[in-house]
Amino acid sequence: MDELQGISWHDGRVRILDQTRLPEELVALEISDYQGIIRAITGMNVRGAPAIGIAAAYGIVLAVWSLEEADRPAFLQRVNQASEALARSRPTARNLFWALERMRAALMKLLSRPLREIKLALLEEAQRLHADDIERCRAIGRFGAALLPQTTSIMTHCNAGAFATGGFGTALGVIRTAVSQGKKVQVYACETRPLLQGSRITAWELAEEEIPVTVLCDSMAAYAMARGLVQMVIVGADRIARNGDAANKIGTYGLAILARHHRIPFYVAAPLSTFDLEIRSGDHITIEQRAAAEVELCGGMRAVPEGVPVLNPSFDVTPAKLIDAFITEKGIIRPPFEESLTSLQVKA
Ligand code: MRU
Repeated sequence: MDELQGISWHDGRVRILDQTRLPEELVALEISDYQGIIRAITGMNVRGAPAIGIAAAYGIVLAVWSLEEADRPAFLQRVNQASEALARSRPTARNLFWALERMRAALMKLLSRPLREIKLALLEEAQRLHADDIERCRAIGRFGAALLPQTTSIMTHCNAGAFATGGFGTALGVIRTAVSQGKKVQVYACETRPLLQGSRITAWELAEEEIPVTVLCDSMAAYAMARGLVQMVIVGADRIARNGDAANKIGTYGLAILARHHRIPFYVAAPLSTFDLEIRSGDHITIEQRAAAEVELCGGMRAVPEGVPVLNPSFDVTPAKLIDAFITEKGIIRPPFEESLTSLQVKA
């Protein structure tokens, strides 16, 4: 099977599959400057924690790609400017900041070299980071698939698939691996209001590979669990604190409470680049607040009377005590998380 990929580099341009257009159309944006990458991240054309990190890394390459050798004095200033602006695009996903830090560390080792060599080395670093993310997803897939019985049904939320990562996916990587091993998996994809990443993107990815998927409105999750339709929940994450509190798409916390009530295991699949060991708990995770229009409109129609205020937090934090395990590229991490993370000496 060809790898489903949402981001690629083509000769001085970044091609991004426009995730806002799925499932209607599979169209790509061609981006040639870092400001275009910022617009694509804020506009959700590219979304998902690892994917926005990779996009930002390519953004740094674009920021310097067209600089002439003689522009050397402008070079560092340009990188700083781009890096700061990219960091302001979305606040919650740890991977975005992790990728920018990795690009900076690579740059610091190159400073004395000619500009054309630095550009190529930065491109190589962005491509390495991209390829490395796919490898991490594959390892997550292998560790996660071992948790699944021969026949199972899994609820997921939002999209933690190929398009949300460098390719292959985290939560969907587990499902893809299990299916490739001959396991029978029925997926229940919550639609994920307001932007419908579950019904538009997760369902598209799975249907494309003929993995059985049923979409439900977010409000139907309790019904599905109470009826015994769901044997486990697997979701991705945007940032995980040292104590195991995990930020993910709004609605994840509710699913975790429902899963605990129904005695259904709740797993979070994420690469180590999503863990933020500098922060003690989820209380310190910045939650992005997005435009009211995303809630006010539904399917292009007004869903809320004019003038009525709405809430639109993009993420919520699931407390560690509701999470049965993290599925990472280094293995399964079980409670007590802080101890397990320290003993694993998480080094992304
Ligand atoms: O707002 P989004 O669509 O970027 O939110 C994405 C999620 O919440 C994903 O579950 C998370 O980034 C993990 S993607 C592997």
